[in-house]
Amino acid sequence: MFPEKGADENEVLAELEKKTEKDLTFDSGKILGSMCTYPHPFARKIITRYIDRNLGDPGLHLGSREIEYETVQMLGSLLHLKRAHGNIVSGGTEANILAVRAFRNVADVEEPEVILPKSAHFSFLKASDLLRVKLVWAELKKDYSVNVKDVETKITDNTIGIVGIAGTTGLGVVDDIPTLSDIASDYGIPLHVDAAFGGFVIPFAKALGYDLPDFDFKLKGVQSITIDPHKMGMVPIPAGGIIFREKKFLEAISIPAPYLAGGKVWQATITGTRPGANALAVWAMIKHLGFEGYTKIVKEAMELSRWFASELKKIPGVYLIREPVLNIVSFGTKELERIEGELKNRGWGISAHRGYIRIVMMPHVRREHLEKFLNDLREIL
Ligand SMILES: Cc1ncc(COP(=O)(O)O)c(C=O)c1O
Repeated sequence: MFPEKGADENEVLAELEKKTEKDLTFDSGKILGSMCTYPHPFARKIITRYIDRNLGDPGLHLGSREIEYETVQMLGSLLHLKRAHGNIVSGGTEANILAVRAFRNVADVEEPEVILPKSAHFSFLKASDLLRVKLVWAELKKDYSVNVKDVETKITDNTIGIVGIAGTTGLGVVDDIPTLSDIASDYGIPLHVDAAFGGFVIPFAKALGYDLPDFDFKLKGVQSITIDPHKMGMVPIPAGGIIFREKKFLEAISIPAPYLAGGKVWQATITGTRPGANALAVWAMIKHLGFEGYTKIVKEAMELSRWFASELKKIPGVYLIREPVLNIVSFGTKELERIEGELKNRGWGISAHRGYIRIVMMPHVRREHLEKFLNDLREIL
């Protein structure tokens, strides 16, 4: 019910505190199955300070618009692109929708199809529904990466794009993007890489010496990349990123927005009014942590994943779905539903809806949390 009279701030806050008691918090160490994390304290400061900035009306907030542009350039440079075209958006879902929309508009075929791995994120289902683009699913290999041969056999005159994944949602698997890029180039079809999760992991993991394939604009078939700062970038939600190699893709989805203070401006994003503060926080975090800072975060997460995987292997009845590629470890057991239920009863923020339990080593996950989790798992088993 809409209240007739306003209440005292403290009263409202107290009610909120009570109602959110049910929420798990990242600093409790209990959330093990999320790709988000406790935002970096510096990013919080930025959000609070610039909370009123609206990137949907860049004429009012010219400085913020320039910062978004610089942020897109910095992300582009991380992904080996000299001049990037894109936006800071609400997340991986919006970024993937924009990529499919751009490919569809540029291709202009009557019955458009996108080929994507069976491991792709469900955001592509939304893209398909919204954009009336048919999804053509490619099989996975035994290692859960996409079968590139199957991708090639599924190309038709209606194919407007191919999707590869750099860090799958379930297992953190990185597809063979170099081969997908070759196929895409040979057939003259744009390749979109969904690196919503891997974008803020793979560049740093590679620098640490982890053996991972190239996945970015170094590969000439790659035309767009989703990269989410609100996952491993440690920026508060919402902060996603869509980066295009060529301006034509951004232009193909840009709509004139004539009434705004900046005069006639063009909007490519799905959202109109959108938070400038989050884009500023991406900019600030990249400046603050730099390549070195992110590498340190990724180093810890990767090492913790390998340690956790080796501990899981020691537990009878537990098996890894596959060796971890990035900082995600997924495992199965007998009676998975019962185990999941009991772990949840003990307060663990995990899920087993994919047929296995997935642990994401986000920056808030520490070894002591995992030790407690392993103890609980052993006891329940
Ligand atoms: C690979 C991948 N792509 C896209 C998304 C969607 O991102 P968001 O939830 O930020 O919209 C996710 C989310 O987990 C993801 O793992």
